[in-house]
Amino acid sequence: MSERADVLVTRPIMEAPTAVLRERCDVTIHQNEFGIPREELLEVIGGRDAIITMLTERVDAEFLEAAGPQLKVVANHAVGFDNIDVAACSAAGVLATNTPDVLTETTADTAFALLMAAARRLGEGERLLRSERPWIWGPLMMLGQDVHHKTIGIVGFGRIGQAVARRARGFGMRVLYSDAVQLPPDVEAETGAERRELNELLAEADFVSIHTNLTPETRHLFDAHAFHRMKSTAVLVNTSRGPVVDEAALGDALAAGELFAAGLDVFEHEPAVEPSLLGLENVVVIPHLGSATVDTRDAMGALAVENVFAALDGIRPPTLLNPEALP
Ligand code: DGY
Repeated sequence: MSERADVLVTRPIMEAPTAVLRERCDVTIHQNEFGIPREELLEVIGGRDAIITMLTERVDAEFLEAAGPQLKVVANHAVGFDNIDVAACSAAGVLATNTPDVLTETTADTAFALLMAAARRLGEGERLLRSERPWIWGPLMMLGQDVHHKTIGIVGFGRIGQAVARRARGFGMRVLYSDAVQLPPDVEAETGAERRELNELLAEADFVSIHTNLTPETRHLFDAHAFHRMKSTAVLVNTSRGPVVDEAALGDALAAGELFAAGLDVFEHEPAVEPSLLGLENVVVIPHLGSATVDTRDAMGALAVENVFAALDGIRPPTLLNPEALP
């Protein structure tokens, strides 16, 4: 393209990728830290050549129509793309991209941090000290669950699930996975993972870590029935998407002692958190920080910008979701 493209970024991203984007495009960055209200979003996207979106924006037929026929690409600054109606993008001839791979290891670190924190009651211990209530070391004080040499069940065994498995192996854990796809033998050998049906995995695992995409099939995959199948000493970790878990049912299961603890990075009605969970000591909650490190956010921004440039140049973006929309 000879003219400078008009690009909207719906939330400030890291400085380095922003500077690269500005070198060849006219860039508008929306500054509202709580995101753009829908009505305003539909106004500000009009006439843009490319839009870098966050997981908080719904990209659907209404969005694409409001943007206009010149729109070439919606570059999601996230690996998850349940906020994007990919078929609607294809129908409108708009390329849709995401940011896989660059956040795999960081998100796996977050899952493992939540697993450890929930198993060893770190949040509860922190709250105790900060409350300045009296305490003294005791043989029965705040006993948690061992992590090392236990069994972890990983639900959704894609890139991030496999990265969690490698961490688990370092802790001497036995690794089970449940996925629609049977892994090639070399990947099973590298991760040491054995495939199970979901119900078998739930019954066998001491830790269950969720890494599945959010689809109509996985919405509330973890409901009261699933919790019922798990061990009462089990710990549940979710760093995928909130609606995969029925949060109210999770609150009930944790309060009733059907599960030992949960570590959650994502929420069913994000940013809201089910109030019953916030009242429980055996829940560790963090505000969707899975990929939130300096290096990874730099890499996600860089990949989103690379996708935008490729689309503007009429070449295939590196992490394209809808090849059928290529001109
Ligand atoms: C993603 O990329 O999908 C994460 O949830 C946010 O980084």
